Amino acid sequence: MNLSKRIFIKNAVLSCALIASSSLIVNAVIAKKNFVNNSKIRQIMPFELPKLPYERNALEPFISEETINYHYGKHHQAYVDNLNKLIAGSDLADKSLEEIIKISANDPAKTGIFNNAAQIWNHTFYWNSMKPNGGGKPLGDVLAKIESDFGSYDNFVNEFKNAGATQFGSGWAWLVLEDNKLKVTKTANAHTPLTTNAKPLMTMDVWEHAYYLDYQNARPNYIEIFLEKLVNWDFVAKNLS
Ligand SMILES: [Fe+2]
Repeated sequence: MNLSKRIFIKNAVLSCALIASSSLIVNAVIAKKNFVNNSKIRQIMPFELPKLPYERNALEPFISEETINYHYGKHHQAYVDNLNKLIAGSDLADKSLEEIIKISANDPAKTGIFNNAAQIWNHTFYWNSMKPNGGGKPLGDVLAKIESDFGSYDNFVNEFKNAGATQFGSGWAWLVLEDNKLKVTKTANAHTPLTTNAKPLMTMDVWEHAYYLDYQNARPNYIEIFLEKLVNWDFVAKNLS
C-alpha cells in the first residue's frame, strides 16, 4: 500500500471515529436535554380533560350523547381550562390534582381553585362510576358488603335515592367507605369526600346539567335510571379492594 493510500485510510478511520464520538456526545446532550425538558414538562404540564371510559353515545338511551357533549365536552372541559388559568405560574402549578384540592379546600382565598379542581376530580370519578349495561343489584363481595352495612340492597337504594333527591341545588351523592363501613353521603356544589376521612367508591352528579336535557326537572327519574341501568359496580369493587 502506498503512502498516500495509507494516509487516506488513516484519515478515513479518524473521521469515522470523530463522527462516532461526536455523535455519542450529541446523543448524550440530546438525552440530557430531553431528560431536563421532560421533567420540566411533567412539572408544569397543564391539566388535560381525562378521556371518557366509553364512547359519548355509550350510555344511551339513558344519558344522551347530547348531554355528554355538554356535560363532558363543555362543563368538564371548562373546569380543566379554568384551573389551568388559575394556577399558571403559581406554586400550585406543579402539584397533583389531589394535592391542589386538599391545599385549597379550607383556604377562602383559593375558592375558585378548589371549585374547579374538585369539579375535575368529581366528574372524572362520576364518568367512571357509570358504564354501559351497568346498574341493578351488584354481585359478590360488593353485594355482601352492602347487605352487611345497610341491612339490605333495598335499604342502600333508598338511602342513595334520598341523598340525591334531597341535595338542595347542585351537588353530588356518594357511596363511601368510612371506618371500614359503607355509607351514603351527599355534598354541595364542588365538595368532595376526598377532603374527609371517607374513601369515595362511587358518585352520582345531581347538578342540573347532568340530567336536564334528558329528564328535565325530574331528578328522581334520573336517579332511578342511574341505579338501575348505569352504576359501574366493577368500579366500586375496584375501589373497595
Ligand atoms: Fe356535572
